[in-house]
Amino acid sequence: MAKVSLIGMSGSLRSGSFSNAILATLSEHFAERADLQVYDLAPIPLYNQDFEGEKRPSVVKQMLADIEAADGLVLCAPEFNHSIPGVLKNAIDWASRPAFASVLAYKPVAIMATSRGPLGGARCLEHMKVALDSCLSRVTLAREVIITAAETRIKDGRLVDETCLSFATGAVEALLKEIALFKDAG
Ligand SMILES: Cc1cc2nc3c(=O)[nH]c(=O)nc-3n(C[C@H](O)[C@H](O)[C@H](O)COP(=O)(O)O)c2cc1C
Repeated sequence: MAKVSLIGMSGSLRSGSFSNAILATLSEHFAERADLQVYDLAPIPLYNQDFEGEKRPSVVKQMLADIEAADGLVLCAPEFNHSIPGVLKNAIDWASRPAFASVLAYKPVAIMATSRGPLGGARCLEHMKVALDSCLSRVTLAREVIITAAETRIKDGRLVDETCLSFATGAVEALLKEIALFKDAG
């Protein structure tokens, strides 16, 4: 059976990022069933409405084509100033056009957040939901994945805390289930 194709997007460009570590852990965990590729958002320029449609930069066109081809997305972000980091929000903004008919419309998406703090990016997670709702994305219903005190749960670039790992894998399991149902429904 063909593997499910997933694109992982992180809200952090930092080497040693906890968000990237969570995505890398999930990529390994689901390797037999899903091809989870973590997308490099560093080359994506800032959104500019002057450059929509055919005028989009080629890296943006490629990102949109990759999102369109993927069965689903897994977004993992740190909380920055109580919200979504600009790097991820910027990617969402590019991908959100044309409004309500974009590559994000009806795309199944799992979301998760992390921070060193005691709230684990809970506000970022809420803002991700709101932004994706506006794109008509299908944010997968699952137990909320909020990874608090990230530096105690992530070691050597992998999420090692069993409870947090079960929440994160649970969200991806729910995503895979939703993708399967979505495909069956034609
Ligand atoms: C600009 C900036 C703003 C931040 N704002 C928050 C915040 O509002 N809430 C929070 O819990 N952590 C905040 N943090 C801490 C980050 O969530 C934390 O460092 C996280 O681990 C960074 O993600 P990364 O490891 O994937 O790079 C902030 C960090 C930075 C650099």
